[in-house]
Amino acid sequence: MENSKQKGKFQSNFGFLMAAIGSAVGLGNLWGFPYKMGNGGGFAFLFLYLILAVCIGYSCMLAEFAIGRKSGKGAIGAYERIGRRFMFNGWIATMAPFFLMMFYLCLGGYCIKYLVANFGDIFGASWGVGDVASGDFFNTFVADPVQAVGFTLIFAVLTIVIVMGGVANGLERFSVIAMPALFVMLLITVIRSVTLPGAAEGLAFMFKPNFEVFKGWGWLKVLASAGGQLFFSLSLASSALIAYSSYLDKKENLEKNALIVPAADTTVAILCGLATLPAVFASGLEPTQGPGMLFVTLQTVFQSMSGAGPIFGTIFYLLVFLAALTSSISMLEGSVSSFMDRRLEKGKSQGRTFLCLTIGGISTAGAVLVALDALGAAGLPHLFGFSTWLDTFDLFSEGILMPGGCLIMTIILGWIRPGYIDDEIKLSGSYRSKPFVEICLKFLAPVFLAFIVVVQMDGFFKLGLF
Ligand code: PHE
Repeated sequence: MENSKQKGKFQSNFGFLMAAIGSAVGLGNLWGFPYKMGNGGGFAFLFLYLILAVCIGYSCMLAEFAIGRKSGKGAIGAYERIGRRFMFNGWIATMAPFFLMMFYLCLGGYCIKYLVANFGDIFGASWGVGDVASGDFFNTFVADPVQAVGFTLIFAVLTIVIVMGGVANGLERFSVIAMPALFVMLLITVIRSVTLPGAAEGLAFMFKPNFEVFKGWGWLKVLASAGGQLFFSLSLASSALIAYSSYLDKKENLEKNALIVPAADTTVAILCGLATLPAVFASGLEPTQGPGMLFVTLQTVFQSMSGAGPIFGTIFYLLVFLAALTSSISMLEGSVSSFMDRRLEKGKSQGRTFLCLTIGGISTAGAVLVALDALGAAGLPHLFGFSTWLDTFDLFSEGILMPGGCLIMTIILGWIRPGYIDDEIKLSGSYRSKPFVEICLKFLAPVFLAFIVVVQMDGFFKLGLF
């Protein structure tokens, strides 16, 4: 464990990259991207997504890396360093992971359940999925409070224990093993999926360019879907990346890192599509998104594969579990990092263990509520007319705090304090992308993020704008 007066450092740029890519690669890649790409015009969607990734993803990520490393602090301290009046935006970023974890920890628990069940199927164990229809298996599992809460707690404890280990011994040590392993498992699943008879239909669904969807105001819909996806997938405005970059050595090149992380995240998202969609079509199923795709449709695929199905199921759910865990640890670290600063400023010890337990504990309480809610099936009361608690916590995080906070960041760095990040980026590189980043932060990103805020409200409250 690190010295209690210091928050710790990544030991290598590779460790930093694995942790940051681990944060970005998560459930969003697996259950959002492939479906949205297929429905949003295939290659045409990808083209649009890549433009957004370069203009918005790269610039906002570079900005977060720079304000994090410049201050050496978590989100609250990082914004305070820009100016005391901007500290509130650090609070916004620090609160986002509380709500994110409230549903992510529960979904991570579902991943463990499916990992265990598919592993059991390899040798016909009674706790496997067996011949039960996958929809029934899923509904029975989520409606069983002991199991749903139990697996959520296991996932929450794993998240908390890794973050308690500190930067080098917890986050980095876990990420440098988990991410390469995840990548290998993803490649195995891709090879199996694309070589199944009937896989071509899935490839066509995902890639075939379709400009029809752009007709009329359709392009705005596609832009909305690509933008929402990009934003969540890159873990922007959630305090995670600010915290991670604050632990990065000053000699490491921020521009390069801000290119590598979105590039890797997008590559993995495409591979996730190749791992899932061909198999879904080969089994005569229709793709969907969300938990239904991950836990019902894909489980049906593994059940329909003769012989080796449970082995591929085990590999697949292990990779989903690792993707979720490397994301959840970054959420917890984001908040913990901000609060550690506050303690250190008061002359106290950093209190990593205490903060992991309290912040992790509060988020776990929310996750238990989501688990008990059984995706709305348990009949618990809900807020704002939503049908699940997952949607409520998602509204606070993905809907309000994250796009709102990112919008405020671009206004601060683009208009109020332009040039603030320059010296930090120049410390370790030429900052050749400066003119481009400035245009993005000043004009493109604020307009786009304001649009995303509207899109999110439209999605959550079904306003019917898009
Ligand atoms: N990027 C993660 C995903 O795609 C989610 C995430 C958001 C992780 C914010 C950390 C912070 O699932």
